[in-house]
Amino acid sequence: MAFPILTAQEAAEFIKNGDNIGFSGFTAAGTPKVITEALAAKAEREHAEGRPFKVNVFTGASTSDHVDGALARANAINMRTPYQSCADTRKRLNAHEAHYFDLHLSELAQKLRYGTFGDIDVTIIEAARVSDDGEILLGYGLGMTPTVAHMAKKIIVEVNEAIPVEIEGLHDIYMPLDPPYRREIPIYKPSDRIGSTLLKVDPSKIIGIVKTNLKDCVHGFSPLDDVTKQIGANVCDFLIGELRRGAIPASVLPLQSGVGNIANAVLFGLGASNEVPAFDMYTEVVQDAVVDLMEQGKCRFASTCSLTFSDAKMEEVIKNMDFFRDKFIIRPGEISNSPEIVRRLGVITMNTALEADIFGNVNSTHVVGTKMMNGIGGSGDFTRNAYISIFSCPSVAKGGLISTIVPMVSHLDHSEHSVDVLITDQGVADLRGKDPLQRAETIITNCVNPEYKELLWDYLHMSKGGQTPHTLKAALGFHTTFAEEGDMRKTDWAKFA
Ligand code: COA
Repeated sequence: MAFPILTAQEAAEFIKNGDNIGFSGFTAAGTPKVITEALAAKAEREHAEGRPFKVNVFTGASTSDHVDGALARANAINMRTPYQSCADTRKRLNAHEAHYFDLHLSELAQKLRYGTFGDIDVTIIEAARVSDDGEILLGYGLGMTPTVAHMAKKIIVEVNEAIPVEIEGLHDIYMPLDPPYRREIPIYKPSDRIGSTLLKVDPSKIIGIVKTNLKDCVHGFSPLDDVTKQIGANVCDFLIGELRRGAIPASVLPLQSGVGNIANAVLFGLGASNEVPAFDMYTEVVQDAVVDLMEQGKCRFASTCSLTFSDAKMEEVIKNMDFFRDKFIIRPGEISNSPEIVRRLGVITMNTALEADIFGNVNSTHVVGTKMMNGIGGSGDFTRNAYISIFSCPSVAKGGLISTIVPMVSHLDHSEHSVDVLITDQGVADLRGKDPLQRAETIITNCVNPEYKELLWDYLHMSKGGQTPHTLKAALGFHTTFAEEGDMRKTDWAKFA
C-alpha cells in the first residue's frame, strides 16, 4: 500500500478541535516537527474567525519548540501531559490557559491503554522510514510511541530524511500486557533486549506521509561553573565512599541521571574521577556527556528512552556507529522508567531538586510553591524504586536571594520516605537510617549555604514537639519573606511567633 504524500497543511486539516493527539518521541528526539507548526497556524486562523480550536497533547515527555512552543504560542493546547520544559507552555499553564496534569512518565502509556483519558484520535509519528505494510523505523526518541500508535484512530507519519538509516537496530520496542495478564518485564541487566527494532502499525490507519528534513536541534548545556562542578565532585565522593565501604557492589550498579545543568555536571564529575569504575546506565535520557564517558571507557552501556544529543554530537555518534552500536538501547518510556526494573536492577538514581527541606522532602517542580517549572518527569519513577536515591541542587538560587534548603518545602514531589541522600555544593547529607531531627541536623550542617545556616538552626531550635519539629506559622517563612522582600536572608522569625 503506497501512502498518500501530504503537505503539513493538508495533514493538519485531519485534526479537529478537541482531538486527543498522541506524539512520538521523548524530548526533542523523535518528536514530529512540521505538522504541529501547520496545526498552530490553523488554530490561529480558526481563532481569528472566532471559532474555538484547541487540542489535547499526549507526549512521551518534553518536546521541542516545533510542538510545545508553536502550539502554546497559538493558544492551541487545551490539555497537556505529562512533562514539558517550554517557556511558552509554562506561561500558558501557569495562567490557566492550558490544563496541565503532571504524572510519572512511566504511567501515562498504561493509563491511556486503560482508557483513563479516552481515545487517541490522531497520532503523529516521526520516522526514518515506513514500509508499505506499516513497519516503521523510528527516530532518536521513543517515549510512548508504541501505545499511541496502537491506540490511534488515524496515524500520520513525518518521514524525516535527516534521520540516518544507521540508527536501525538501536530500538527495543515492547508493550507489556495490561492487568490481569501482565507478566514480569524480562530485563535482568541494562543491555537485555526484549522487543523488536521496528514498530509495526496497522497500515490501514496511516492516512498519509509528510516528508521533512530537519535535525532535532538539541541545545548544549551552560558551561560548568564552580558551583555545579563542586556538586558533581560531591556526588562522586559520596559514590566512591559507598564503593569503598562495600555498600555498593564492586561491579557497580546501573546509574540513572536526571535532566538539566546539575545532572550534566554530575556526569562530568563521574568522568573526571579516576576512582569511579566503569558503569552502565539505566536511565531515560542520555545527553552529550554520556558519549564522552563512553569514549573514555567510563560508561559501558546505556539503556535509555532517547538519544538527546546536540546535532554535532549526534553526527559524531552516527559516524562512529561501529563503536556505539552495542552501547545503546532506546526503549519506550514505560520500560526505560519501569519501577519493576529500576527496583530489580538496583539503580542508583541522581536527580535534581528545586528545593529540599531540612527533613529531606523534595520539591522538583514548583517555583516558590506555586509556579510550575517543568514537571516531575521520570524523577519519581526512579527515586521511589532506587537502590540509593540521590537529589542534588546548588545551596542557593538567584545569586543567594533564595536558599534551596528551607524549613518546609513549598510543594512536595518526593517525600522523606524516598530521599536517601541530599547533596549541594556545600556537601553531602546521607539521610538513611536517621530520624527527622538527625536528618535536619545533618542537612543544616552539611548542605546549607553559610548565609542561611544560622537562620535554619534558629528555626530548628525554636520548633518544639512532635517527631518532626516544626513551627507551623513559620514553616513557610522563607517563602513569604521572599515574596514580600525579595530575599530569604531577611527572614525574621520573630514576625512569625
Ligand atoms: N526557587 C526558585 N527558583 C529556583 C530554585 C528555587 N528553590 N532553584 C532553582 N531555581 C531556578 C534557577 O535560578 C533557574 O532559573 P533561571 O532559569 O531563571 O536561571 C531555574 O530554576 C533552573 O535552575 P538550574 O539550577 O539551572 O536547574 P536545572 O537546569 O538543573 O533544572 C530542575 C532543575 C529541577 C528544574 C530540573 O531538573 C527538572 O525539571 N527536574 C524535574 C524532572 C526530573 O527530575 N527529571 C529527571 C528524571 S530522569
